[in-house]
Parts: sequence; structure tokens; C-alpha cells
Amino acid sequence: MKDFSFYAPTEVVFGKESEEMVADLVKKYGGTKVLVHYGGMSAKRSGLLDKVCGLLTEGGIEFVLLGGVVPNPRLSKVKEGIALCREKGLDFILAIGGGSVIDSSKAIAYGVPYEGDVWDFYLGKAEPQTCLPVASVLTIPAAGSEMSEASVITNEDGDIKLGYSNNISRPKFAIMNPVRTFTLPPYQTAAGVTDIMMHTMERYFNPDGDMTVTDVIAEALMRTMKECVFEVLKNPEDYRNRAQIMWAGSLAHNDVTGNRMNGDWATHQIEHELSAMFDVTHGAGLAVVWPSWARFVMKENLSRFVRFAVNVMGVENDYTDPEGTALRGIAAMERFYHAIGMPNSIHELIGRDITDEEIKEMARKCTRNNTITQGKFKVLCTEDIETIYRMAR
Ligand code: NZQ
Ligand code: ZN
Repeated sequence: MKDFSFYAPTEVVFGKESEEMVADLVKKYGGTKVLVHYGGMSAKRSGLLDKVCGLLTEGGIEFVLLGGVVPNPRLSKVKEGIALCREKGLDFILAIGGGSVIDSSKAIAYGVPYEGDVWDFYLGKAEPQTCLPVASVLTIPAAGSEMSEASVITNEDGDIKLGYSNNISRPKFAIMNPVRTFTLPPYQTAAGVTDIMMHTMERYFNPDGDMTVTDVIAEALMRTMKECVFEVLKNPEDYRNRAQIMWAGSLAHNDVTGNRMNGDWATHQIEHELSAMFDVTHGAGLAVVWPSWARFVMKENLSRFVRFAVNVMGVENDYTDPEGTALRGIAAMERFYHAIGMPNSIHELIGRDITDEEIKEMARKCTRNNTITQGKFKVLCTEDIETIYRMAR
């Protein structure tokens, strides 16, 4: 087994009515003047925002509201949040929403004590020494940001979507009430499950070799998601299955299914260019990219793809034809995506053909003008990434 360190410090409070704990938790982690950060209308419409604000008021905690975070959260909103926190002397950021709101919160948290431009961190030009504490009341299981060290922000100036990871921004607590996910539309539900499974698959397809316990946890998580998603698409108020998905979303990205192995992450990086250019839903973009990535890289370690096909996708192992087994596993995943309402091609994702120029631009941005490669399972250069986009078009 490879040496590793595992760090997942977020306190999780999970279950019905768990938001009742919000004021106590904010106090426990030192918050006295809070930025309550949220997205479009969902948290307002469901009454969650008002409920949390009421609980903070009852708990004697001052707060300021900042809504308007959009999916693929924007740098301009982050800068608005930084200015607001400084102006009002806020010392804690509470995200009410999903990955986009939590990521925006993390970026604000880095930016408040930093004198330079917060985008420096995403460009790799600087490292934050400190940040404000962040926590969340989660409303969509998908990105796993509620326990992760990552945040992904889009700079509208050039449509550049970049991630930055630092343990100092790991959320202090995450409140997860599956009932709050009953209002999710089917597309967001399915895209969320796709992202959850992909966070596990990015780690599962690694070049590091044996991590038996971790691999078995990963396979069980993926099989469970494949079952639960159909149940909640049939019945959005199915608490049992909403709860499995919500908890899996955190486990898939708090590194329980990875243990610091060299996860691949190429599918994510290739997708981030799609969501930067076309503002599409992250999980839907992943569903489009992964099968092409898989077919392009599978010969690097065919037995891994055979294991995935058999243990996760339920494909019968043809011992005389490992390549055929691996390919049937990838095809089964493609059918699964389609069955849950995810697109199978870039055309389906963006509603038109993609041009060669757009493919070239995305591949170039993905390797920062040929200065970096992507992926660990197979190392990909700009031309390889272009090929994967073409296969997915
Ligand atoms: O804005 P509102 O009105 O709240 O609507 C949101 C949004 O339109 C809606 N929604 C959320 N909870 C709801 C709800 N609608 C009804 N009922 C509810 N309970 O869902 C839509 C999507 O929300 P968003 O936060 O964008 O979803 P997600 O959690 O998938 O986050 C996506 C972002 O996270 C990044 C992605 O790239 C993307 O920008 N990622 C962040 C990661 C991380 N920080 O570790 C890792 C991921 O791989 C990912 O890259
Ligand atoms: Zn993701």
C-alpha cells in the first residue's frame, strides 16, 4: 500500500432538521458576524434561507446577505463578496447552496485577508497564508465542496475556469438535510450523481497500484449511486435514496475513495473547458467527456478497465477478450448516462455542432498554451485532448 496522509476535518451534521444546529455551529467555530452567501432563487423559494436567517437571529449572530452566485461561479461575485466582508468586518462565511456557492465562499475567504488580487491563487502566482472560516448548509449533492479543499472559479475575462486547492479552506462544518434536496430538478439530480461517481472514478483510475480497501469502497459507492439515482428520479421525495446520494457526495470527494493516490483528473480538466466556454452543467459535461477519455486511455491499464466493467457496471467478464470486456463496460456507462438524462455528445450538451476552432481553443487552454499536461493514468498533451474532444463531439 502506498503511504498517504488523510485529512477531512469538516464536522458533518446529517439528517432531518439538521439546520436547527446552525447558530450553535457558527458560534462553535468562532463566527460572530457572518456573510450568508447563496445562489439564485432555490434557497429563497424553499424557505431554507429565511429559516437559517431566523436561527442566526435567535442565536444572537449578526449577518449580512449576499446572493446571486450562478452555476460556474464568477470572479466578479467573489470580488463583491470580498469588498462586502471588509466593509462590514465579517469574520465567517456561511454558504447556503451547492458547489458553486461553497466555491465562491472559499474564494471570498481567501481574498478577504489578502492584499493582492484573489485570482493570483487560481493562477498559481501566490499562496494564501490564512483565510476566513467557511461552512455550508448543503442543498445539492454533487461537487463535494462541503468537505473538499478545492474551489473552482470562472474569470469572465476570457472565460477561464480554474481550480485552486488548499486545506486551509476546508469547511468547518457541513449541515446536510436530505429533505432539502427534494426540490432538485431531475437534470441537476442526475448531473450531481454523475459528478459524485466521477470524483470516485478520477481516483479509481490511477497509476499507483494496490489500495484494496479503498478500491472496494469506491466500487460499492459507484454501484450504490447507480441504484439510488433511478429511485429518486422516479420519486423525488424518496428520503432513503436522497440520503444515500447526499452522504456519497461527501465521501466521494473527501478522499475516502482516494487516499491521496495520484488520481487522474483529466476528465475534470477537459470538462472545465466545456463549462467555461459554454456555461454548461459540470456533471453533464463529465458525462460527455468520460467515455471518450476512457476509450482513448484504456490500454494504459486494461485490467483496471476490466475490473471496472465487471465490478461496477456488471458486465460479464470474457477472459478471452479483455479489451472487449473493457469496451462493454464503457458502453454500459454511456447507456447509464443516457438513461438518467445526461447527454452522450458535445452536440447534445450544447445543442449544436462544435467547431474545430472551439476544440483547438479548449485544448490549448486546458494545457495552458502547451505548458502543462493533464492526467496521470495516461499523460495527455494538447493534441491528445483535441482528439478526446473530437471523439466526444
Ligand atoms: O442558484 P440556485 O437557485 O440555488 O439553483 C441551483 C443551481 O441552479 C440549483 N439548486 C441547488 N440546490 C437546489 C437547487 N434547485 C432546487 N433545489 C435545491 N435544493 O442547482 C443548480 C446547480 O447548483 P451548483 O451549486 O452549481 O451545483 P454543483 O454542486 O454541481 O456545483 C457545480 C460547481 O462546482 C464545481 C463545478 O465545476 C461547478 O462550478 N466543482 C467544485 C468542486 C470542489 N469545490 O471540490 C469539485 C467539482 O469537481 C466541481 O468541479
Ligand atoms: Zn466534479
